[in-house]
Amino acid sequence: MARILLIIGGGIAAYKAAELVRHARKGGHEVTPVLTDGAQHFVTPMSLAALAESPVYTSLWDLKDEVEMGHIELSRAADHVLVCPATAGLIAKMAAGLATDLATTLLLATDKPVTVAPAMNVRMWEHPATQRNIAQLRADGINVLDPDEGPMACGEFGPGRLPDPEAILAALPLGDATTPPLAGAEGPLTGKHVLVTAGPTHEPIDPVRVLANKSSGKQGFAIAQAAAAAGARVTLIAGPVSLPTPFGVSRIDVTTAQEMHDAVMTSLPADVAVMVAAVADWRPQPSDKKLKKGDGPLELKFSSNPDILATLGEHPDRPGLLIGFAAETHDVIENAKGKRERKKADWIVANDVSGDVMGGDRNTIHLVTADRVDDWEEATKHAVAQKLIDRISDTIS
Ligand code: C5P
Repeated sequence: MARILLIIGGGIAAYKAAELVRHARKGGHEVTPVLTDGAQHFVTPMSLAALAESPVYTSLWDLKDEVEMGHIELSRAADHVLVCPATAGLIAKMAAGLATDLATTLLLATDKPVTVAPAMNVRMWEHPATQRNIAQLRADGINVLDPDEGPMACGEFGPGRLPDPEAILAALPLGDATTPPLAGAEGPLTGKHVLVTAGPTHEPIDPVRVLANKSSGKQGFAIAQAAAAAGARVTLIAGPVSLPTPFGVSRIDVTTAQEMHDAVMTSLPADVAVMVAAVADWRPQPSDKKLKKGDGPLELKFSSNPDILATLGEHPDRPGLLIGFAAETHDVIENAKGKRERKKADWIVANDVSGDVMGGDRNTIHLVTADRVDDWEEATKHAVAQKLIDRISDTIS
């Protein structure tokens, strides 16, 4: 249970803040909403007060509130401050340190961890000024979430959508809200080291070309994030993906399967290893020079890459709980069972990738363990991550 000060900016995504309040309350958190003037054009203080079962604050000049609770106290009474949605304007004010209304004053006055969930038109998001402001917020130690990509209310397509309320809540380091969930934070995985691989690997063909696959890294990053929020020390070994590092996670970027293998081995020992990466099984012998059209028809000779999961299965420092993934398009469970035995893993998380799982935000999972198979309902990758981390926590604690 945490106390969240929720600052709602004036954008079309403000209605999703109402949904977030509902989820947060269901999760047992207390929410105190603060609305900017703009936000009140999209959602009313009345509906938020009803959902949050809390007073809602809108103005610095509300003297009654200053008597009962001044803005300094309000900014510190929470465990965590969440700005959702954060508009381009609000982000710019935060980056500049402006205090022009209640929301921006609270953001300057707080001594609590702050998470920002931006939502805006794609051009506004991509504008160099916004990107500069985001970089500034991150440099200031603020946990800035990346927006989702997709069709937008304004009819355009691209990054700028507010992530699902569930995903935003999962991204809040609420385990011990006063400290980022680095080593030592309180939670069911406190004191444990969790090693996660994520994303694809790229195998060079020549200096400018690679062999790759469609893994986005989203599921592995969500697992790393959920593990950190559960108090674990997390090492995330990531192939080439364009995802932000989850809060409190220590990340090692690699390109090839061999590099990923080496990074995993040097990160041992670990209590839990979750090998989510879609590692290339083979690598070509790369050409030193860029191949030219005239060089074709082209023949590539492949050699096998090390199997990281299988190596861990037989390693003297084998993690106590070793978990692999199996992306399959057919005979999902049978293939996963075979993989579990062959690679000496404890669990295999099998997912059917015949649809748009790769790169998408949802996943359907079958958890294959030594004695049973659990079929999980389709859910967001963040919800899958949380469920897996809960299961891991129950198993190893
Ligand atoms: O054999 P397959 O690639 O389907 O196995 C998938 C599982 O094995 C995943 O957990 C993946 O991260 C892991 N793997 C690995 N190293 C490889 C190939 C797969 O760790 N070279």
